[in-house]
Amino acid sequence: MIEKQLQATIQVYDSVEELPNSVQNLMKVAVSARETAYAPYSKFQVGAALLLEDGTVVKGSNQENASYPSGLCAERTAIYAAGANYPELKIKVLAITASSIKHEVLEPIAPCGACRQAIAEYEQKQNQPIHIYFMGKKGKVIHVKSLLDILPLAFDNKFL
Ligand code: THU
Repeated sequence: MIEKQLQATIQVYDSVEELPNSVQNLMKVAVSARETAYAPYSKFQVGAALLLEDGTVVKGSNQENASYPSGLCAERTAIYAAGANYPELKIKVLAITASSIKHEVLEPIAPCGACRQAIAEYEQKQNQPIHIYFMGKKGKVIHVKSLLDILPLAFDNKFL
């Protein structure tokens, strides 16, 4: 038996104002996307904005359903929209923000496991990592330079 350590580096920004301008702008789009969330059940609103290689921005927000599992997270709403509408364009950056009607969300909200798996597929498809920035409603913002930093030992199509 050997023991291996898995390591990832994250960058933590104190607030959105500390981000590079282009990312601040993308985060503003994510905030506007968050306002389109349809979240009558969880009251938890998530917005996502993707920056494509030609400068196009694609938005997504969580869309819930009375049949709970039929709903979809903001990140997958956005990434599937990009895949469907701009299949040839690489995704460079993903910005995510979350808030709640029930309480203040002040810590960065990372994408759920299913969204990580979906984002991993697109990194694989485009053979290029996606920078991800995530925050709550305000406060600290976490940056990872690739989805794989938050999904070590990912399953992908090379195993098929
Ligand atoms: N949600 C997202 O949109 N993204 C995530 O990564 C985590 C959860 C949504 C799904 C659901 O509408 C609500 O937040 C509560 O789970």
